[in-house]
Amino acid sequence: MPLPRVILTRRWPAACEAALAQKFELVRNERDMPMSREALVEALRSCDALGATVTDSLDAQMLSDPDRRAGMIGNFGVGFNHIDISVAEQLGIRVSNTPGVLTEATADIAMMLILMVARRAGEGERMLRGDRWAGWSPTSLLGTQVSGARLGIIGMGRIGAALAHRAVHGFGMRVSYHNRSRSPELEAELGAEFVSLETLLGAADFVSLNCPSNAETRHLINAQRLSLMRPEAFLVNTARGDVVDEAALAAALAAGRIAGAGLDVYEEEPLVYPLLKQLENVVLLPHQGSGTQATREAMGFMAAENIAAYFEGRPLPNSVC
Ligand code: DGY
Repeated sequence: MPLPRVILTRRWPAACEAALAQKFELVRNERDMPMSREALVEALRSCDALGATVTDSLDAQMLSDPDRRAGMIGNFGVGFNHIDISVAEQLGIRVSNTPGVLTEATADIAMMLILMVARRAGEGERMLRGDRWAGWSPTSLLGTQVSGARLGIIGMGRIGAALAHRAVHGFGMRVSYHNRSRSPELEAELGAEFVSLETLLGAADFVSLNCPSNAETRHLINAQRLSLMRPEAFLVNTARGDVVDEAALAAALAAGRIAGAGLDVYEEEPLVYPLLKQLENVVLLPHQGSGTQATREAMGFMAAENIAAYFEGRPLPNSVC
């Protein structure tokens, strides 16, 4: 019997590709560039399972293609807003994701962005590398104290909670949060305070976005909500770009309506709203949240295990649908 054919839309860590190649006819994307829509349609027509990532937009039309062969999408990532899940479900296409294994790495990046934007790390590095540093002075590049400040977390899932632990235990921060449901454990353990979105935005020194991207959270942070933030406050986004209206954010930053932003994700990746790149009070990272060797390997092995479960007729360990 021929082995099931699995196509990876991007290169995965070598150990994960090797594990997949032992069980399947594995097709790698040797160029490791995002695949075009046409190439993705062709891939769905010529494989039994697709190993997809956040750079693949898999919409209703592509999934409904009568010539589609793929019955399973093993997503290399926890977020699945790039896949039309309701259509996949209707069509019986199985989808899995990789929850849990990237929690700590992503919370690290959120904390790092808080520190970088507060302490003007990007500005300082640009000054030094640009040979514009004239030496230490008592008043240059003065930033904002992170220790003891109030952090508002929007979305208290795994990553939000891991960030709250870092903030409270590492930096003595006070945490407010807004979420669909309350977490009595975190409230007891960390003194986290459950508040409305408006209260959080009005009180926080740092607002961190840790919610999923969906119809309800699209442009959750828009001009009106930005206007509720304090002029001394910072916004950090490690969730998904479309949770923020980037044009409104850039305008608020340029006008000094908020103090700064630390971003790891963007509305139209890999494009970044041009004005954001011109502003000194913005730290911009290229979607690095889960980017450690150990984490990316764990994500790849988890996705591979879901693909294997599908072909072996076992329940998917991390089923989205
Ligand atoms: C995730 O896992 O969702 C990361 O953002 C990479 O896709």
